[in-house]
Amino acid sequence: MSPFDPVSLIIKKRDGGELTPDELTQLIDGYTDGQVPDYQMSSFLMAAFLRGMSDLEGFALAEAMLHSGEVLDLSDIPGTKVDKHSTGGVGDKISLILAPLVAAAGVPVPMISGRGLGHTGGTLDKLESIPGFQTDLDLDTYRRLLSEHGVVMIGQTKEVAPADKRLYALRDVTGTVEFIPFIAASIMSKKLAEGIDRLVLDVKAGRGAFMQDVESGRRLAERLTGIGEHFGCTTIALLTRMDDPLGRAIGNWLEVEESLRCLRGEHVEEVTDLTIALAAEMIVLGGAAATLDDAEVTARTLLSSGAAFEKFKEMVQAQGGDVSVIDHPERRGVADAIVDVFADEDQSGYVRSVDARAIGLAAMRLGAGRMTVEDGVDPLAGIELLKKRGEPVQPGDCLARLHTRNRELAEKFSDTVSEAFELTGEHVEPEPIVLDRLYAGKWSTG
Ligand code: URA
Repeated sequence: MSPFDPVSLIIKKRDGGELTPDELTQLIDGYTDGQVPDYQMSSFLMAAFLRGMSDLEGFALAEAMLHSGEVLDLSDIPGTKVDKHSTGGVGDKISLILAPLVAAAGVPVPMISGRGLGHTGGTLDKLESIPGFQTDLDLDTYRRLLSEHGVVMIGQTKEVAPADKRLYALRDVTGTVEFIPFIAASIMSKKLAEGIDRLVLDVKAGRGAFMQDVESGRRLAERLTGIGEHFGCTTIALLTRMDDPLGRAIGNWLEVEESLRCLRGEHVEEVTDLTIALAAEMIVLGGAAATLDDAEVTARTLLSSGAAFEKFKEMVQAQGGDVSVIDHPERRGVADAIVDVFADEDQSGYVRSVDARAIGLAAMRLGAGRMTVEDGVDPLAGIELLKKRGEPVQPGDCLARLHTRNRELAEKFSDTVSEAFELTGEHVEPEPIVLDRLYAGKWSTG
């Protein structure tokens, strides 16, 4: 390896060159151990953002970030370990239902999740709205719980992909977040470090997602699955719609409650459909069914029989959570202020769309999310949608219910929430939640 000179690597990228895997490894290792300061890394990030990165550079970046920390080996735990990762959206509570459901089918699910930031929610905040639920577990406990219960859901530890943690914070303040090679390396370095054998990705496209249009969603899915396959982890992707919030609940405990209804076998529109679609992929990849049709039947049966719900309770108990609120959600209590938002005199017709980004931001400001990583969240805050896409609205109908700590705060956001509803005089056709599927580099729509 040539002597390490970060400035020459920045210049090479600035001038449109392609960095070798060794050069990228030196840069990432140097940044992780403090040899490369933030100002040099910032400069490199912006040069790469503007000049682009090749597939080879993308693989090398992911590999360097993956090996910046511990790469777990779960091979002593029987079974094919399968995880799901969503690129993030509004009202996305699917992991809460999916992980115990797939575990109930006999496929071990080790899941390391993140927190909400900005308009998107995070699985950890949702789980922690269950009193006592511990997500801050060490890797030995992670391994033990997976082996004993077939499912574990924890937060990122300092041992897993530490380079990503520092780089993400730097990208956030240098205008270099929305760049597919960085997003793909960031997500895949963490997922590959978990010790999984196979991965299902839920790549979201639309107003409430990182990727605002379907074409960018496709490109991100291709990059992510390409990295997975490159490292020998079979990775498939579902491209899913994220223009409107997923389901009716946005906010941590509200989303747990909606998930519990789904786990009890109730059909919760979109939420159940997407959960079944992702579960079927995971069950097939985990070897517990031969076809997607068989796997779907298995998933539906596990929901309707209560087996998935029982597995969820088992996981809550194992991670220190209060199972009495799982059996009796009403015992969890409600936010101090609950304020309804009504349709105005001029609001009538059918809901054409509910702007996921606007609703996600309003929910965050009501206390359900955080603007910076240091902020806390209010577990009971959020928004319930009383009207969804396609549903009829008359003046005076309740559109949404805001849950927060006081009336003044709720009233401050009533107009924003009302304006997030776009109405039309025409009937609105339903649209599928799953837009396309990517298997071994090929989209199923061709
Ligand atoms: N999620 C991640 O983990 N990293 C990104 O860069 C974007 C979304």
